[in-house]
Amino acid sequence: MCGIVGYVGAQPSVPFLLDGLKKLEYRGYDSAGIAVIENGEIEVVKAKGRLTNLENKLKTLKPLTGCCGIGHTRWATHGEPSDVNSHPHTSSRVTIVHNGIIENYSELKTFLISKGYTFVSETDTEVAVKLLDHYYYNDPIKDPVEAIMKTIKQLRGYYALGILFKDYPDTLFAVRRESPLIIGYGDGENFIASDVPAILKYTKKYSLLDTDEIATITADGVKVVTHLGFPVEKEILEANWDLESAEKGGFPHFMLKEIHEQPKALLNTLNPRIKDGMPDFSAEKIEDDLLRNAPALHIVGCGTAMHAGIVGKYAIEQLARVPVTVDIASEFRYANPILHPNEPVIVISQSGETLDTIAAMRLAKGQGCPIIAIVNVVGSTIAREADYVLYTWAGPEIAVASTKAYSVQLATLYLLAIRLAWLRGAIDDPRAKELTADLLEVPAVLDKLLVNTDNIKHIASTYINSQSAFYIGRSLDFALSQEGSLKLKEISYIHSESYAAGELKHGTISLIEDGVCVVAIATQERLLEKMFSNIKEVKTRGARVFLITRSDSIIPDGLVDDVVRLPDIDDFLAPLATILPLQLFAYYMALLRGCDVDKPRNLAKSVTVE
Ligand code: AGP
Repeated sequence: MCGIVGYVGAQPSVPFLLDGLKKLEYRGYDSAGIAVIENGEIEVVKAKGRLTNLENKLKTLKPLTGCCGIGHTRWATHGEPSDVNSHPHTSSRVTIVHNGIIENYSELKTFLISKGYTFVSETDTEVAVKLLDHYYYNDPIKDPVEAIMKTIKQLRGYYALGILFKDYPDTLFAVRRESPLIIGYGDGENFIASDVPAILKYTKKYSLLDTDEIATITADGVKVVTHLGFPVEKEILEANWDLESAEKGGFPHFMLKEIHEQPKALLNTLNPRIKDGMPDFSAEKIEDDLLRNAPALHIVGCGTAMHAGIVGKYAIEQLARVPVTVDIASEFRYANPILHPNEPVIVISQSGETLDTIAAMRLAKGQGCPIIAIVNVVGSTIAREADYVLYTWAGPEIAVASTKAYSVQLATLYLLAIRLAWLRGAIDDPRAKELTADLLEVPAVLDKLLVNTDNIKHIASTYINSQSAFYIGRSLDFALSQEGSLKLKEISYIHSESYAAGELKHGTISLIEDGVCVVAIATQERLLEKMFSNIKEVKTRGARVFLITRSDSIIPDGLVDDVVRLPDIDDFLAPLATILPLQLFAYYMALLRGCDVDKPRNLAKSVTVE
């Protein structure tokens, strides 16, 4: 996934372009570039690596003062990260920035070469810009919107494009197919961006460009047409985020800020859905019969969102006794899944733009399944296409490694589990109200854990040279351990895997030797003894064990090396608390290993390509 920005107005465009790219760097950071129409020519400046490389390069050049420009920060798909492959790409007369993939770029490239075009990069984007050039300059009427319409008719794949035509020095053009793109409305200036944080400093007013809509943007006006040229009146939305939410707020990293925001995020997500002490989804119009009569549920997502689904499966099955399947979205969509129209499919996504999850949702929708989306970004593609949307009010999650989004996804799934169980008579009123009240207590539990995190930092400091790590648990603890393991992997680059504690002895225990890091999670009272014997199995083989357990666990001497105890919490809800020390452990491991916590290598915040 990449970040796109564009500006047209009375001010020089470069300051917004760089500022906007900074806010979008979490979307990809292999390289960055800008293009500005300067004295009738399109000036392009780009650089491999982080945005600072581009900023430093610009300082060595004659200042660009043009008031119409586009910018891009890249997560490489076609062509390695390099100066020549970075965006913007240009034909010198037309220049674009692109987020997404042009699937049929090689056949289009062959066509363009036959028309005399040459190519300098390995990217699919360069093919798109030269196709635009071809349709614009090889057409006597030379209408940019016409050229865009002809071009997108030929393109297969998903994309968002910011476009400059040399012949239109005061106009910005934009078009999208699936990959997100918004239009920002300022006072005498207008913007495009891949996401809201890029424009918050300048305006909160924005519209979402819909698939195959083409925008023509000048300083004092925005015109949008469909791919057939019919005018479209766009709804103007008001961003519900403030600038401060999109900044670090004094924390050293977005990830740490977002870990600390979890209590507030949970309250913001839970409170609107609890009435008279019970979970209530009337605002989202989720009919009780839909839940009461569902013979089964299916959960789909990617990465952390899918991990939330795994805990959700355990919670719903344990409480409501409804069978739940959980699938990785990229597997689900090619698995010819067994679905029935009366079985709701719960689609989980922080960004609401993950392509694999969108495709899985559309497949399920095509088979008549009701779609319940659990999404954090308002107005995102998944939110707009689902039948029911449960927004998680966590605010913008900027760090690539998801933390607060996972917690609010879990909380929403727990609310669903309690409602489902109560509707189906699996639990009575008192138990439903007790669990709901306990759920509302979780933010206070997290606050206690956040009072002092130095102990976790100290524990992490003793494991930072581990070559690998195993996260073990049983039942809900095993379900949760999968997210704990991903957190460590994706930001500290230490290989780790999560394992059902009872399964280790069936093979993997052969990997346990002196010094191997084992993170053991034991919060379920009924399984404590079993867990302690599994810990003994790894301990006797030389493992170093970091245990996260209940406040009242009686731990045999010498069983573990380090321990974090949770404040009192119902076993059933324990994952909502356990995740916090696991997030902090991963955070401090990455920090102490000198890794880039907010922008881990090779990753991007939301993967809008396959
Ligand atoms: C989580 O830490 C990762 N950044 C990644 O696994 C992420 O959860 C996944 O790409 C799904 O993103 P989404 O929730 O925006 O759909």
